[in-house]
Amino acid sequence: MNQKIKKIGVLTSGGDAPGMNAAIRAVVRSCTFHKFSCVGIFRGYEGLIEGDFKELGPRSVKNIINKGGTFLKSARSKEFRTKEGRKKAFENLQNNAIDALVVIGGDGTFTGATIFSEEHNFPIVGLPGTIDNDIYGTDVTIGYDTALNTVVEAIDKIRDTANSHNRLFLVEVMGRNAGSIALNAGIGAGAEEVLIPEENLGRERLLQSLKRSKKAGKSSSIIVVSEGDQIGKNIFKLADYITNNLNEYEVRVTVLGHIQRGGAPSCYDRVLASRLGVSAVDALLDGKSDCMIGIAHNKITSVPFSEAIKSSNELDLELVRVSDIVSL
Ligand code: F6P
Repeated sequence: MNQKIKKIGVLTSGGDAPGMNAAIRAVVRSCTFHKFSCVGIFRGYEGLIEGDFKELGPRSVKNIINKGGTFLKSARSKEFRTKEGRKKAFENLQNNAIDALVVIGGDGTFTGATIFSEEHNFPIVGLPGTIDNDIYGTDVTIGYDTALNTVVEAIDKIRDTANSHNRLFLVEVMGRNAGSIALNAGIGAGAEEVLIPEENLGRERLLQSLKRSKKAGKSSSIIVVSEGDQIGKNIFKLADYITNNLNEYEVRVTVLGHIQRGGAPSCYDRVLASRLGVSAVDALLDGKSDCMIGIAHNKITSVPFSEAIKSSNELDLELVRVSDIVSL
């Protein structure tokens, strides 16, 4: 047990994700449970540099488990990328007697944490909070399940209008360079095709597949396009290409955008965030640092930041086969 820790700081950084509030709540209440103080740091590393801190007790985090976004707010700090910025951050932590940090975010957050902890020998534990599900060392990230449900709900609605007009819809989803959201939501929403960065389908094969769909008697179609996919990179150009080469389809485009980041977290995300938040404080108590707390096969795991940021969460390509079969 790390006897030195008496006060823990918690922050959220990078793109927000539903369930971040539940994670903060778990960290704060876990601190109370262990009789530590907890300090909320606003606007991620930006607030760390500016000393935007607030003591949090168990009642400070009431009624937030069901809220999307992050009440601590988030930012992508440029200044934290500089040595001077990180020095200011360290001084603020010292001046406020904060002994350790829990940072909730994605790989950018963990990269910043690694450099900071190396420079200042400061205990930091991370929690994976991003809708993209692209972090190595955890089966899922906080916010991913909610985002999937948001996408599926949206595509269900798009399908209604696609069907009524016999149209082909290209639906762009988030995920940065990862196809997790696209592939899983595509299967869940019954998409005819899913374009993901991990697999290069190619425009010609896409046309062939759409022709087959028509022949098979489909009157409307949904193609889910991951924002990182090469042929879907410019979804409007792809729409033109299909229109110019397949006149039997009337094509429309929907870019789902940031609605995928909002909304009340699903029960799965709330439970995941609560488990990870409690485990993050346990990890600091056990003397752990420079690691991310994740989940694998429903068991809590701890992965060094160096590994978590080195590679991304590999997509299970078996899902591509499933998607191909169930969309026949
Ligand atoms: O990492 C989360 C994410 O929503 C990605 O899916 C997307 O590419 C990016 O953030 C969008 O970032 P911003 O909020 O800066 O537009």
